[in-house]
Amino acid sequence: MPQPLADVLAEVRELLLDPGLTRAVAAGRRRGFTPSVTRAELRPVTLKAGARLQIVTDDGARPTTRNVVPGPEAAEAVDSLLAEPFGNWHIETASSTVQVRITKKGDAQIHRASASRDSAAADHDRTKQWLLDPGDPLFEVIGGNAAKRRQIDAFLRALEATLPAELPPTLRVVDLGCGNAYLTFAAYRYLAGRGVSVEVVGVDVREDQRVRNSAVAESLGCSDDVSFVAGTISSASLPFEPDLVLALHACDTATDEALARAVGWSASWVLAAPCCHHDIAAQLKGRTAPAPFGELTRHAIMRERFADVLTDTLRASLLRLNGYRVDVVEFIDSAHTPRNLMLRARRTGAAPTSAQLSEYASLVEEWGVKPALSTMLPS
Ligand SMILES: C[S@@+](CC[C@H](N)C(=O)[O-])C[C@H]1O[C@@H](n2cnc3c(N)ncnc32)[C@H](O)[C@@H]1O
Repeated sequence: MPQPLADVLAEVRELLLDPGLTRAVAAGRRRGFTPSVTRAELRPVTLKAGARLQIVTDDGARPTTRNVVPGPEAAEAVDSLLAEPFGNWHIETASSTVQVRITKKGDAQIHRASASRDSAAADHDRTKQWLLDPGDPLFEVIGGNAAKRRQIDAFLRALEATLPAELPPTLRVVDLGCGNAYLTFAAYRYLAGRGVSVEVVGVDVREDQRVRNSAVAESLGCSDDVSFVAGTISSASLPFEPDLVLALHACDTATDEALARAVGWSASWVLAAPCCHHDIAAQLKGRTAPAPFGELTRHAIMRERFADVLTDTLRASLLRLNGYRVDVVEFIDSAHTPRNLMLRARRTGAAPTSAQLSEYASLVEEWGVKPALSTMLPS
């Protein structure tokens, strides 16, 4: 049954400004009108500065994020969105879902459903299924196809498994070789969502990535907390010594540069997903394998795979010798990417045992290799 538009919008206004709001989306257009943005999404967020109403609007080219203070500022922002000729509003609160469709005649049809126990349970399952809500504005910026969401989720689960249940009140994070930074932003959104203050710096040798990633941080409204530096992993200077070091798919020995820096900073946690491995592979080529392992390196493909294993084994050993407890895990199953191994390290500060020292020494001696990381570690 159509109702006067003004009455319905007054009800929508109350819901949007209510603390019980979960999420709301405005989209579509009324007959004969075009809103200034194609879509608007509102959700409550908790930032370092306190509670905010986050408003993400999309003009069809790119999203813009504003975080407004509850009260008069939020009311003004909501009023200007309600004045836009959107065709639909969808509002979810803790207790109900309200859908509004504006008819061709300019009236409103409203459908209200209370959040049943089943749908509340389904919501709970959905949010448990993904560590970062698929509705997070990040996915609007980076594109949210299923493979990317799965990769982000696998990464966040590895992060969750590495960090303690109780995080320090401030967490300083560096992402070395951050590339287009979607994992950097995912880490930020996830950690900030755990209620701690998070500062993140992404480092990449490419200046164009710095410029692009800084613009993304602006559009997500997090440029105070997430910044980018153009420079090499081994020499970039950071505004802080990080607690958490990420190095995801940094090419070849760039992973070693990242691990060496993490050790130099005495970072508490390190997550490294190595990428291509050429260093040890090149050293094994043309060298006689210790008996009885000749078969392992006779065929190029076997030598390559063995070199990958030996490289990451030696990296894990060197981290252990430098006071880290290390787990080597599958990052994401290999159907999604062949680079599916991750070193997860937590600093314990423990001195190496003599067994660990001699194991490492005999491994490099038997195979006649000198891992890049061993030449980079602070002495
Ligand atoms: C394969 S991309 C991975 C990007 C991102 N970490 C991810 O997993 O999606 C590797 C990135 O590392 C950067 N890179 C490689 N070697 C580097 C170095 N030595 N110093 C800084 N950046 C480096 C490259 O420019 C590239 O953007």
